[in-house]
Amino acid sequence: MLFDERPKARREDLFDRVKEVSEVIDAIDKGRPIIVLSGIRRIGKTSVLLVALNEVNVDSVLIDCRALKENYGRRELYALFSTAFSSKLDKLRDVLKGIRGVSIMGNYVELKWSGRDYLSLTELFDKLNRRRLVIALDEAQRLRGPLANEVKDAIAHAYDYDRNLTFILTGSEVGLLHELLNVDDEESPLYGRYYHEVALGRFSVDESEEFLRRGFSELSISVSDDVITSIAEYFDGIPGWLTLAGNVYAGTRDLSQVRETAIKIAMSEIENLIRVKERTSPIVARRYETVLRCIANGSNSWGRVLRCLEDEEGSTISSSVLHNIITNLEKLSIIKDYEFLDPIYREASKRLKG
Ligand SMILES: Nc1ncnc2c1ncn2[C@@H]1O[C@H](COP(=O)(O)OP(=O)(O)OP(=O)(O)O)[C@@H](O)[C@H]1O
Ligand SMILES: [Mg+2]
Repeated sequence: MLFDERPKARREDLFDRVKEVSEVIDAIDKGRPIIVLSGIRRIGKTSVLLVALNEVNVDSVLIDCRALKENYGRRELYALFSTAFSSKLDKLRDVLKGIRGVSIMGNYVELKWSGRDYLSLTELFDKLNRRRLVIALDEAQRLRGPLANEVKDAIAHAYDYDRNLTFILTGSEVGLLHELLNVDDEESPLYGRYYHEVALGRFSVDESEEFLRRGFSELSISVSDDVITSIAEYFDGIPGWLTLAGNVYAGTRDLSQVRETAIKIAMSEIENLIRVKERTSPIVARRYETVLRCIANGSNSWGRVLRCLEDEEGSTISSSVLHNIITNLEKLSIIKDYEFLDPIYREASKRLKG
């Protein structure tokens, strides 16, 4: 079902993405050490990843890094790995059995994260390397934080020595993901390591319309061409929004409710993001809101955003302050060149108080 809101895992549920899925499968088959799957939120990264992993003839574990809090510790990180291994125990039992620091209790795998028998990630990867395995880290930019270098050291070690392992990293905050990998920085553990990147783009208007038609037809709902065109144009080829829109329209037959539901979701995502900033400084958090609102209302250059922010605050703002905010919004894949990458985020930002 196209309008199923969970990430798709089977090829028959996935609309198009033929090229991208093949590219990921091909990179796995070639035994590439690191594959990066990048693209803005809701573009279909997890779906492409799951379909590719389902189709390759190699065992895999999927680690959902979105579950990590900002200042996660080793306990949380290892718990995430444990959960991932536990869910694949039927396939991985023989590899995991006998590794010092790994206990298998019933259907649960426990990794020792401290004390005697502590198992470092480097050791773990070396042991897993006994046979071919894909380790997928979904939303890998969340690995940033105090343990980032430990994780990167382990991946760098595996890159050099563990030829049987392939890492796939996905990320919707694309700038942060590249910053985590930081292959151009001599100080970075992953310096000089090549990775194969598959970037997911949006659907064209035609593809979006086709997606919607097929989705409605699966639900045996007949919808006019006007409605299809209007949804396709409004959601700008982002499959996650098209899926949501299809569901809401199927339930309400009301276009304004479709838009309103999406904007409310985007609002709460932006507010969550700003709440993170608020913990450091309420003033900075408010500035993020103002900058987003200025750009949403058409300030499309450095000078215009600066003037808009200064007008709002009634005082002079140093350029380094604004530079920081703009750079961070870019790294989060919210804006690029003073434009929103997601039109729903733009609509939601117009409503921010600031
Ligand atoms: N090609 C596709 N065909 C059918 N449904 C899709 C496709 N791509 C994405 N979707 C749907 O869109 C939504 C978002 O997809 P998915 O979770 O795979 O994207 P994502 O890029 O991983 O998102 P996020 O950044 O939020 O993790 C899901 O409901 C999924 O089912
Ligand atoms: Mg995802």
